[in-house]
Amino acid sequence: MTDNNITLLLIHGFPLSRQMWQPAIMSLRQRTMCRILAPDLRGFGESGLLQISHGNHDDVVTMDDFADDLLKLCHKENAERLVVAGLSMGGYVAMAMANRAEPLLAGIILCDTKATADTASMAAARRELAADLTSGNKTPADLADAMLPRLVSPATLSGTRAGDDALLTEIREVLCSHHPLGLVAAARGMAERRDSTELLASLDLPILALCGEDDALSPPDEMQRLATLLRRGTFTTIPDAGHLAPWESPNLFADAVAEFIERF
Ligand code: MLT
Repeated sequence: MTDNNITLLLIHGFPLSRQMWQPAIMSLRQRTMCRILAPDLRGFGESGLLQISHGNHDDVVTMDDFADDLLKLCHKENAERLVVAGLSMGGYVAMAMANRAEPLLAGIILCDTKATADTASMAAARRELAADLTSGNKTPADLADAMLPRLVSPATLSGTRAGDDALLTEIREVLCSHHPLGLVAAARGMAERRDSTELLASLDLPILALCGEDDALSPPDEMQRLATLLRRGTFTTIPDAGHLAPWESPNLFADAVAEFIERF
């Protein structure tokens, strides 16, 4: 294990929190000496609901807003050689960070995410969800019920392996734990996000694209296609894992991340 002065910033997805990284962090600690930061994004987990409103937007937090929050955190922590790893929405935030502060980044890890913007119908569905959560027509628990079966692999969902049931219970608890307004602001922010394909293709940085083999939301073939557009991209899959691959398979995730980081 070398200490290469890297800070690894782990950015959670929607509607999750830094809790999703805990098992992976335990595995990473056995494989790398790098410093690890895993904050809750604004409006999620234990971040509180402070400053959801931003500028002229009411109740919207864009991917750029999240990126600015994290850049401030990295500055405060004196993180000079930064590897940013983002899962799904966290990947959108990592791309926004690369757009705003490329020189700060030593590398990027994109987990179960995509570079494309929402289609008109996807954006409309997010705005409808935001309206339903605002009015109370839907609750975070309704969202959890709808999302959970699509977030994990069939193997995890079947609950047949040791630990699967506990993992499903923990994921559901996290999905249900957020204030609806945090979810509303991020859902509207995701609907506004840019296509980052050209940005990623222009970056002269090592980028690891990592995907659960059974990810139904950001399928491996799409991530593999993205990796081929990258100047210094590599692609790897995690077997028997879905959209939450780092949480479902923390050891395999940590193997891939530690190998990537050791190169620096
Ligand atoms: C996530 O896991 O962060 C979401 O699937 C992202 C999205 O809804 O696009």
